[in-house]
Amino acid sequence: MDTEFDPDPPQPTNPNVTIWIFGAIAVLVVAGFIAFSLLRPSATPPPAAIANDPLLVQGRVVYLDRCARCHGELGKGDGPTARGLAGPPVGDLSDSNWKHGDKPDDVLKVLRVGVRDTAMPAWTNIISENSIKAVAAYVYHLAGREVPAELRGN
Ligand code: HEC
Repeated sequence: MDTEFDPDPPQPTNPNVTIWIFGAIAVLVVAGFIAFSLLRPSATPPPAAIANDPLLVQGRVVYLDRCARCHGELGKGDGPTARGLAGPPVGDLSDSNWKHGDKPDDVLKVLRVGVRDTAMPAWTNIISENSIKAVAAYVYHLAGREVPAELRGN
C-alpha cells in the first residue's frame, strides 16, 4: 500500500505556545499600568492655606489636572505647553486684571465656552459644572482674591 506523504502537514497550534503568548501580553499590560501610575505626576497634598476649604481643594485638583499645563502651577502663564501655543499668550491669572473681566460670571463664561481664536478651550463638555465652579474659585485664589459667594453656591 502506498500512502501519500505530505512533507509539510499543517501543525496544530501548540497550546503551550498560546498560553505563553497570552501570558507575555498580560505581563506587558500590567507592566504598562504600573509604569503609567508611577510616572503620573503625583497629586501633592493641598497647601495648608486651602486645606480646610473643600471648594478650593477640589478646584486645585481640577486646575493641576487640566489648566496648569498652559497656565502654570501658580497661574503665571508659564505652564510647560504655554510657549508652543498659537494665538494670544496665556496671560497671568495671578494678576487679577483679567482681560475678560473679573466678575464670577465673566470667569465662568470664559471657562464654559472658552475664548474664540485662542488656545483657551471650552470646558462645558469636558468637566462637570461643579468642577467649573470649583476651578473658577481656585482662579480667584491664585490671584489672591476672596472667592465670590456665588461660586460657593450661596
Ligand atoms: C491649551 C492651553 C490652555 C488650557 C489647557 C487652559 N487655558 Fe485658560 N487660557 C488659555 C489662553 C491662551 C488664554 C488667553 C485667551 C485670551 O487671550 O483671550 C486663556 C485664558 C483664560 C482665562 C481668562 C483670563 C483673562 O485674562 O480674562 C481664564 C480665567 C482661564 N484661561 C482659566 C483656565 C482654567 C481654569 C483652565 C482649566 C480648566 C484653563 N484656563 C485651561 C489657554 C489655556
